[in-house]
Formats: sequence, structure tokens, C-alpha cells
Amino acid sequence: MRTDQGQVVNLADYRPTDFVLERVDLTFELDPTATKVEARLIFHRREGSDLKASLVLDGDELSLAGLLLDQVEMPAEQYTATADSLTVRDLPAAAPFELTITTIINPEANTQLMGLYRTGGVYCTQCEAEGFRRITYFPDRPDVLAPYTVNIIADKAANPLLLSNGNFLGGAGYGEGKHFAAWFDPHPKPSYLFALVAGDLGVVEDTFTTMSGREVALKIYVEHGKEPRATYAMDALKRSMKWDEEVFGREYDLDIFMIVAVSDFNMGAMENKGLNIFNDKYVLADPETATDADYANIEAIIAHEYFHNWTGNRITCRDWFQLCLKEGLTVYRDQEFSSDQRSRAVQRIADVRHLKSEQFPEDGGPLAHPVRPTKYREINNFYTRTVYEKGAEVTRMIATLVGAQTFRKGMDIYFDRHDGQAVTIEDFVKCFEDASGRDLTQFSLWYHQAGTPLVTASGSYDAAASTFSLSLEQMVPATPGQPTKEPLHIPLRIALLGHNGSQFATKTVTGAEITGDVLHLIGRSQTAVFHGISSRPVVSINRSFSAPINLQFDQSEADLALIAHHETDNFARWQALTDLALPNLLQAARDARVEKQVTCDATFIDALLAAAQDDSLEPAFRTQALALPGEADIARELGSNNDPDAIHAGRQAVLSLIAAAGMDVFETLHKAMATPGEFRPAAADAGRRALRNAALTFLSYADNAPGRAKAAFDNATNMTDLGHALSILAHRFPDSAEAAYALDAFRDRFADNALVIDKWFAIQAGTPGAATLDRVLKLMENPSFKRSNPNRVRALVGTFAFTNSTGFNRADGAGYRLLAKEILDIDPRNPQLAARLLTAMRSWRSLEPVRADHARSALMEIERANGLSTDVRDIVERVLKG
Ligand code: TRP
Ligand code: ZN
Repeated sequence: MRTDQGQVVNLADYRPTDFVLERVDLTFELDPTATKVEARLIFHRREGSDLKASLVLDGDELSLAGLLLDQVEMPAEQYTATADSLTVRDLPAAAPFELTITTIINPEANTQLMGLYRTGGVYCTQCEAEGFRRITYFPDRPDVLAPYTVNIIADKAANPLLLSNGNFLGGAGYGEGKHFAAWFDPHPKPSYLFALVAGDLGVVEDTFTTMSGREVALKIYVEHGKEPRATYAMDALKRSMKWDEEVFGREYDLDIFMIVAVSDFNMGAMENKGLNIFNDKYVLADPETATDADYANIEAIIAHEYFHNWTGNRITCRDWFQLCLKEGLTVYRDQEFSSDQRSRAVQRIADVRHLKSEQFPEDGGPLAHPVRPTKYREINNFYTRTVYEKGAEVTRMIATLVGAQTFRKGMDIYFDRHDGQAVTIEDFVKCFEDASGRDLTQFSLWYHQAGTPLVTASGSYDAAASTFSLSLEQMVPATPGQPTKEPLHIPLRIALLGHNGSQFATKTVTGAEITGDVLHLIGRSQTAVFHGISSRPVVSINRSFSAPINLQFDQSEADLALIAHHETDNFARWQALTDLALPNLLQAARDARVEKQVTCDATFIDALLAAAQDDSLEPAFRTQALALPGEADIARELGSNNDPDAIHAGRQAVLSLIAAAGMDVFETLHKAMATPGEFRPAAADAGRRALRNAALTFLSYADNAPGRAKAAFDNATNMTDLGHALSILAHRFPDSAEAAYALDAFRDRFADNALVIDKWFAIQAGTPGAATLDRVLKLMENPSFKRSNPNRVRALVGTFAFTNSTGFNRADGAGYRLLAKEILDIDPRNPQLAARLLTAMRSWRSLEPVRADHARSALMEIERANGLSTDVRDIVERVLKG
């Protein structure tokens, strides 16, 4: 199971190790450039395994500095050590034995940010998925679980803090100027959950009393001086711990829970047992520097990592093909947490928007893969929207199919049955089969078939018989390696509405199973007949987005308007408004392409403005209604031969038309939604700020002048309002004196706060139009831009490539060339980051031919380059081929 040479790893080749690891005892003598790692590993041969089998341990850029067998130096002919493996022969047949492996590693030179590295003068680790093998030779795979003892020795002045997983055993002075600390984690864990942090950090402390009355020490470590900005994260942590007890019956299981915030990190955060390590972006917040979106992200990610303690750590993955076992389930859990803490409908809308704009394009392009893949070349490239977000949708569908109570029962079975194990998706699904008595064989295809299903619906009403027939057809498109597909078990929540908006009972149905409001679509095509329907119903299909599908259903504007007005499911109301908007945006894009005047349908604008003013709806919901499908959504709907300039221009024209029609509405909202008094990050206030800012955006469109945004910028008392005003100025009036003034003022005010300067980079990188590319190039020369820091790169290069469709997709191809150049520059230092940036090119085939040609050339330039990492090679080849 080695991937370092980029060989394909196949699920079908899985087999358990020949040797069982009993215990791990690690000693680190920390040094910035020469850290000595001594690993004492106790193994025994697995019963029934080949007695001649050698022990093969994984490594990555390692060199062996010592090897003992049961404390005696091992003869050279008994082993072979290379940079990426250590093979030991002639090991005892039955008795346990102890290997002592010494390696010397250089944390300072570790720019990949995998393994042990340095960030801001602090030692820190990232071991998922295969980083532990960069620390010592090890059976670095998730089905090898053991308790760990960790001893850390380091210079005391520079590293007053010495942390690892589990409970603190003790510490003391250790020779001149040094000290040591020992940690023991009694819960058997795979190596990817190992963590070590050493350095000098500030701390915020609290305690949590668990449901059984145990007191847990909570500590969040941040750079000195930033402690006040960690209080919201602490609050989110305590709420997460409580929620997991209340909703899933899960209690924390160590004496201490720690979070460390670091500034160089490849992803959002990592769930290491008892010692989570976070990108500081997802810990630090105060009203002056963090937006409401930042607060919501912090809450969700703190919860996500905490929830991994049970879904991921106590029960882990047998192999990396099972990644969705922990990630899909844990995303589902954090989404549910956020729903309970905030607004369920608004959370669902936000999650579905995100799914459609990020996962649907992945699933419909060259990088499409099943939620549980069967092969990979580089596991780092499978931390995808599909594994995470579609994985969460599949978990959600299980809950929908079996019902909330039975879902909880199935989860209880899962925790009971598999605690302490490394398991598979099949094991997980079986728990819900056992809890419900339902056969989930067909349903499991959701894990195995890639591609977003298309469901086509049509209805017909028979007045004489008082029946309504709903015909449904499903089609799962071909994806790389999967040309044909079987029909899925699709749970579709539905409602039949009468003309006054009331709901018909849907109890008597033939032709399909229906439980509650869930219709089970299992055939390729199926007709459900609803009886006792006294007038032509308006059908609401896929309420709450019960299944992650594309739905094709021709509904009249009047029917959509009725749903938008009367559905009791607020998600469906939002969906209906979106369905009203979309044809207008598609037509606008087509018109803009031929320079035809863009017009907009009155029913749509009326429904939108009605929703915006409806005080019975939460402000956050109304904001979501006003947000309209984005340019990526429009491009996806159009499908092929896309011209990003036309899509952008068309959408801008629609926004201007809405702004003109709704001037008074937006004036009123802008005044009414003020949030006087002290800043509170709570969802209710955040919703008011969001609606007020949405109104400001439309007013700026209506004025077609920067005055109001400039005033908003000057009067802002928090980052949400300040950042929003700056975005309007920079995006809508990029050449104005007001934009230049605001950008400079913002930079000067926050010059010493890298996370806020990232917003400054991102806002500028997001400015629509061809001119932005030069601005991005100039910003790369800015002293605040550090290519070694993933947050900086993502803020500037990532925002440009992923979100700026007109700037990045410049017709002359300069955007693609810029990205290619950056990727080749970053790849030797940080392949994970480079590969992720490259996924911005995944939809290149849907572009019009001139741009598509430029995109292909840029991709081929990357493909031709010497010494590409496996990460980038894997993505570039799939993107070109698929
Ligand atoms: N397990 C982490 C999470 O989802 C993801 C993660 C953090 C990760 N850092 C990583 C994955 C580095 C791969 C590489 O919570
Ligand atoms: Zn996760």
C-alpha cells in the first residue's frame, strides 16, 4: 500500500498486515533542523499469517539512524532501509518482539506541511493521511491501532509547552536548559491521529463537565496576545460537546481536550486524538476582524473536529477507500449541529448551495469519483467535495429513509458494535439495516456510483377519478471508468399543494412506497398515483433537498410562485424562488452573448421582492432568496460552450433590473435591518446584517455609484459590514477613487493581521474583468504575500482561479498560464496545495472552444514539466483525459 511512486492502489488488494502492532513508545528530542525520533514498537506475528513474511514499514524521505531488535543492534543483513521503506527479515515466529527505530528529521526544511514541521516558531505535526511515515518508519495505515506513549524533550525557554495526544503523565527538567513531558493515550489509534506540538503559545482555558459528571480540562492554544480572539472558539467547543451528548449520546473520553491554532496549515483543521490542530483562520475571531461567515465557519469546524472523536477516532477507517465513513458522517453531524444552533432551513439552503456549486461540478467533470472510490494514485487528492459533502448527503438519505429515531438506533448499534475498530462502509450500512429491517443493498449504490442523478418528473391530474399521477424517471450519467449505471434508491420528499396553498394528504398511493412525505423512487421509471386528490395539485418535489439530484420538472411560473408562497418546508420555498430565477439568468446569459438587451420576467421579480419583504421569514432566509444562483450555477446549467463574460454580464443585468424594480424595498430594508447596540455573533443578528448588506448591494446597483458603499465603509463598526462595503467598491466600482481609498485604508488599518490581509487579497482577486490578472500579479509582489503560506496562496491565487470566472477565464488564456506557472512554482514545496489549486481547471471542457484551447495548452504545459509530484501528476492527467 505505498503511493510514493504514484502507483495505483486498489481496494480489491486490501489485506490485513502480517504483524500486529501492540504498543508504540516514541521519544522526540526536538531540534529545528535535526530532531531525533526514537520509536519503540512492539509487534507480534498475526496468527495464521505467513511465517516467512518480512515486516515492511512505510517511510517518506527518511534515513535510518539506528535499529535494534529487543534492544540489540540488528545485523545489517537482516534489514533493508530506503527513503520510503524499511524491510526487516527473519523475525520471531510467535513471540512478541520490540523494534527500536531511530531517525533524524529536519522540521525546518519540511515545506510540505506533512509530518513534523515548523510554523511561527512552533513545532507541529500533520499526519493524515500519510504524514506519520515522514517522522519514523511505521505501518502507516489506518487499520493498525495501538496505544501511544510519547516523550518530548526540548529546549525549555523556546518550548515551554510540550503537547501530545491523550492524558499528561508528567514532566520535569532534563539536563541543562531542557525539559521533558510524557503523554499517554490509552485509546488505540492509527498513526494518522498522532500529534505533537511544542513551542511558546498563549492559552485560553475552561472546563466541561460531561454527562456522567467527569470534568474535562479544555485548552485552546494561540499565539501570545491573540487569546481574546479564541473565546468564541471555546464557546463553540463547549456547545459541541453538549450537543454530541444530547443528540448522539456521545461523551468525551480523556481528561483533557486541546486545540492548537497554527498559521501554516494545508487544510481547515485536524482531529488528532485529544489534540486538534487548526488553521488559525478557523479559531481566531473578534468583531473587528472576523465576518459573520468566519464565525459560522469556526463554529462548524470546531464541531466537526470534535465530533470526529467518535466518528473517526473511536471508530476509524479500515483503509483510505473508506474515508467517507468518517468524513461524510462527520460533515452530516456538523451540519446537523449548525442547524440546531442556528436555523435549520437556512443551514440547509447554505449546504445545498455549496454542494451544487462545488460538488456537482466535480461529479459532472473529469475528476468525478464514487463517494467510496475503488482506486487512487494519491490519497491526498481524495479529500474531495464528493467524499465530504456528497458523503454527508448519503448519510442524510439514510436518516431520511429509516426515519430519525431508527437512524439514532442505527448509530447506537454502530458505536456499540465497532468501538475501537477500523471498519468499512459495509459495516456502517449494516447497522442501519439491522436497526430498520430494511434492505439497503440498492441504496448502497450511492456509495459506489459516481455522477449526479437526473430525475425527470411529469404529473397529470384526473379530475373524474380524483387521482394525480406522478411519473418519475432516473438517469445516472456516465463518469470516468463507469460508463453504465444501475438505478438508485432515491428518497424524494414530496408535498401536494392545493390552490389555496393547503396540503393534500398523500396516504393513499399506488405505484410507489411512501413513508411520511418520503416517496421511494427505486425503478428506472415509476409512476406513483395519489388517490383522493380533489383538485389539480401543485407538486413540491425533493423538499429539503432530500436527495442530491438534478430535477427536471416543467412547472409553470404560477405553480412555482404558489410553492414559494405557501410551502411549509422553507427549503422548498427557496428552491421555488431559485427555479423562478434560473430561466431568467440563463436567458440573460444567452442575450448578453449576442449583445441583446437583457429583460426579466415580472413574476420572478415580484416573487423575489415579496420574499424580501416578508417579515414572517427570517432575514437570513430572505438573504438567501436574494442571493440568486451564482455564475458557476448558471455555467453548470448551460452545460457546454460557455462564455464566462456573457454569463457574468447577463447576471449583472438581471441584478440591475431587480435593483431598479426594488429600490424602495431595499431602502426600507437597509434602514430596518440595522443592528444597534453591541455586536453579537449570534445567527439572528448575523441574519439582519446579511439582509441589510444584500439591500446595500442592490442599492449600489440601482445608484450605479459608489457613494452608499463608501459611506457604509466609513461607518462600519464590524468586519462583516466593512468587508461587504469594500467588496462592493472593489468589485462594482473598481476604477473609482472610492475603491482605491477604501483598499488603502483597509490595508493600512490591518497591516499586521495576516488573516485580514487575506481578505484584502481575496477581495481584489475577485474583482470581475480582464484587468484583475495584472492586479493579482502585482499583489504577488506585495511583502505580505508569502508563497510558502497556504492561506495567502488560497486567498490570492485560489480566489482568483476558483471564484473569478471572468478574470481567470480571460479570453486570451493569460489566467490559465498564470495558474500553471504558480502550480509549477508551488509543487516542489507543497504538492498538496498545488494539486488542490489545479482542480480549479476541472471544468475546462465546458468552455467555448477558444478558451478551452488555451486551458488545454496550460494543462499540457504542466503535464510536460519535469519532476511533478504524484499529487499534481494525478490531477493533471485526469483533468486532461476525462
Ligand atoms: N481529517 C481532516 C478533517 O476533515 C482533514 C485534513 C486536515 C487533512 N489536514 C489534512 C487531510 C491534511 C489530508 C491532509 O477534519
Ligand atoms: Zn473531517
